[in-house]
Amino acid sequence: MTILKNKIGRVITSIVLIVILLAGVVGYVGWYNLFREVPTYYESPEEHFKYGSIGTEEAQGVPYWIWLVLPRIFPDKLPGPGGYTSLGITWEEGKEMPVGFTKKTIGFPRVGITCAVCHTATYRKTEKDKPIIVAAAPANKFDSQGYLRFLSATAGDARFTADYILDEIKYNYNLSWLENLLYRYVLIPQTKKALLQQKEDYSWTDSRPNWGPGRIDPFNPVKFNTLKLPKDNTIGNSDMMPLWNQKMHKGFALHWDGLETSLTETVQTGAIGDGATKKSLPVADLQRVEDFIQELQPPKYPFAIDEQVAAKGSQIFANTCASCHAFGGERTGTVIPVEEVGTDRHRLDMWTQEGADTYNHFGDGYPWDFKNLRKTNGYVSVSLDGLWLRAPYLHNGSVPSLQDLLEKPENRPQVFYRGYDVYDPKKVGFITEGDEAKAIGFKYDTKVTANSNQGHIYGTDLSDENKKALIEYLKSL
Ligand code: HEC
Ligand code: HEC
Repeated sequence: MTILKNKIGRVITSIVLIVILLAGVVGYVGWYNLFREVPTYYESPEEHFKYGSIGTEEAQGVPYWIWLVLPRIFPDKLPGPGGYTSLGITWEEGKEMPVGFTKKTIGFPRVGITCAVCHTATYRKTEKDKPIIVAAAPANKFDSQGYLRFLSATAGDARFTADYILDEIKYNYNLSWLENLLYRYVLIPQTKKALLQQKEDYSWTDSRPNWGPGRIDPFNPVKFNTLKLPKDNTIGNSDMMPLWNQKMHKGFALHWDGLETSLTETVQTGAIGDGATKKSLPVADLQRVEDFIQELQPPKYPFAIDEQVAAKGSQIFANTCASCHAFGGERTGTVIPVEEVGTDRHRLDMWTQEGADTYNHFGDGYPWDFKNLRKTNGYVSVSLDGLWLRAPYLHNGSVPSLQDLLEKPENRPQVFYRGYDVYDPKKVGFITEGDEAKAIGFKYDTKVTANSNQGHIYGTDLSDENKKALIEYLKSL
């Protein structure tokens, strides 16, 4: 009896051990293929800015192989040929990912976005030139709404199936037996679900004016999706901002309406706004981004400047603009009441006290914390460093060039095309009219709600000669 008991005991022990072992193997394989995190590291601060993770992959990452083949399966849902680049996404020669996109493995390779997708511009001196990529400049061609809508549209299409997608992946990569199962039964159906959910989360944009390239409604997604505040009817469409030279901006209010005063918080809320979660927010990686933009110098104007004329312009600037815009100016970097500057007020009205209060409690209990979000009553008199590459101008990007900004609002262009990156050194801005600009660009109509080009009439009374001199000086900032 005892011998038999012992035998049964040994068998049971073995079975238990095998089950534990199997569970361990299954657990390990599951963890390895779904959760194993492989850090990305770029030695160069600029590469880190362009391609390093800001924590968006965990919650918002699209499985790499699906992301790669979608433009090939659904070219009909893109605005033109060229895959993702047709949405104004920039692909540096020889790079695996476009500027502003990460490939990070969390179990499986996923695609996330970085600050650079909205904070990197390109320009060309002539149509024939290759685009020059300038990190931290406000993106001028990236159509982020187009990108979101493309992804959602693919998920809503009958071709978004495992068979279609796996067949297409074969042209790039042989998935292993296990990866195949993972893609077929987990990743493809889950991605479809997530993208359809995203469509739902952004359905409020369907009844509001399109952002177009170089603009987003930055804080309504935060209000509605991150902070779970009730939907309102506000329109916050605003132009991207440059990030360079932050050291010189110390003490300036941040964002167009000055809703933040801490750079660290602005960087961190930037990552949250892009899809990082409380858990995934990579504080040290974001500190590297902050260090980079503190020191980075604005780009120099790439055409000749007439120094004599510019010297005369600097006097005009000192008399008419410096109090609000020069470093050390009495009101530079402060909030100017909207009634005083007179520009479109939709972006200002989009942000609320409730939004600020809720966001200030968002990080409670975490090692990072937000406490400097606020509601203001106007727009910041931003510093003008690297001004030449910040076109179109004003917070809603409603004025194509510096020459146009010095015209009275009724004489500024009423309709123009945004998103073409060939530069116009005469008007000082990008080319926004003509066949090429029309073919590539987004039609910006200043009559559309929140697109108004009114206000900021400083300098519009100057003589033509003085305007010319002032513009010559502004090129040098
Ligand atoms: C999807 C586009 C997008 C992404 C991605 C993005 N930003 Fe921005 N960022 C904007 C826009 C648009 C503004 C201006 C918004 C406003 O105030 O209306 C802005 C404003 C800012 C400002 C304020 C600049 C100033 O002078 O006031 C900072 C700083 C900033 N972003 C940093 C970052 C950082 C750092 C990241 C990455 C962690 C990031 N952003 C990611 C679109 C983006
Ligand atoms: C009373 C303060 C004040 C004065 C004076 C002033 N500005 Fe401004 N400026 C602002 C404010 C506020 C904004 C942001 C307005 C907005 O975007 O709605 C702005 C925005 C700008 C922009 C757009 C920046 C960008 O990145 O799009 C330019 C360019 C500019 N100002 C140039 C000038 C010039 C040139 C003068 C002198 C002729 C001048 N400003 C005088 C307050 C001022």
